[in-house]
Amino acid sequence: MDDREVRVFSDADALSRAAAEHLVAIALEAAHARGQALIALSGGNTPQGLYAILPQLPYRSQSPWAQMQFFWGDERCVPPGDPESNYGQAKREFLDRVPVPAENLHRVKGELEPDVAAQEYGLVLRQFSSDGLAWPRLDWVLLGMGADGHTASLFPGPISPKERERPVIAVTANYQGRPANRVSLTPRVFNSARSVVFLVTGEEKADALAGVLAGAPDPERWPAQRIRPETGSVLWLVDRPAASRLPKDFRPAPVTF
Ligand code: 6PG
Repeated sequence: MDDREVRVFSDADALSRAAAEHLVAIALEAAHARGQALIALSGGNTPQGLYAILPQLPYRSQSPWAQMQFFWGDERCVPPGDPESNYGQAKREFLDRVPVPAENLHRVKGELEPDVAAQEYGLVLRQFSSDGLAWPRLDWVLLGMGADGHTASLFPGPISPKERERPVIAVTANYQGRPANRVSLTPRVFNSARSVVFLVTGEEKADALAGVLAGAPDPERWPAQRIRPETGSVLWLVDRPAASRLPKDFRPAPVTF
């Protein structure tokens, strides 16, 4: 069964609203079923539209803020106040503007040595472990994708034994002049999630999107292909330029909005 769904949007606002609605629905369901909703956020420019609308109505009044626990799928190794920090970005643009308790924010300590930060974050995840895992079964994971097919801080190239074995790893990679030292959750954690949402916009990502979704399986070349939740769903929210090189016979056929 292919549990992927691809939705194509003609405007950025509609894409962000679809992501916000999806997050709120999953958070309410999780809070109702298990008393908390475990969310992982991403960095990059693409989620800015989503972060801007979440503090607004109707999402502000609909979301179960006190029951939402926030984690990060990856972090750049810079202090939290640095403009390049993924935590700092989400905090400034979104979390400081909603009534989420400070103790519900579980950031990667980007100010530490990458290996130390990765190890420390593994311990943070362990506190939320469930289902016999050493990490939480995340309810909603937000991911972006680079023009090279990377996602979180999982970059093209040979997959390291650490990536296969551990929940959190330190990574060094150069991409568009962003901080090279990073910490990333691994596919072990992403693939136990209940729901993963990719946001992908822009023509410069069209080749990678076609490669990831419609190309032959090649997870070393296309890291986003490493994300295949065992029992969860994957929703791709993309804009028209990013979807422009998907083959005409792509299945399941994208739904256009
Ligand atoms: C980061 C990310 C990364 C990001 C992609 C896409 O720390 O940079 O979490 O995986 O999602 O690089 O970035 P853009 O949205 O800026 O294209």
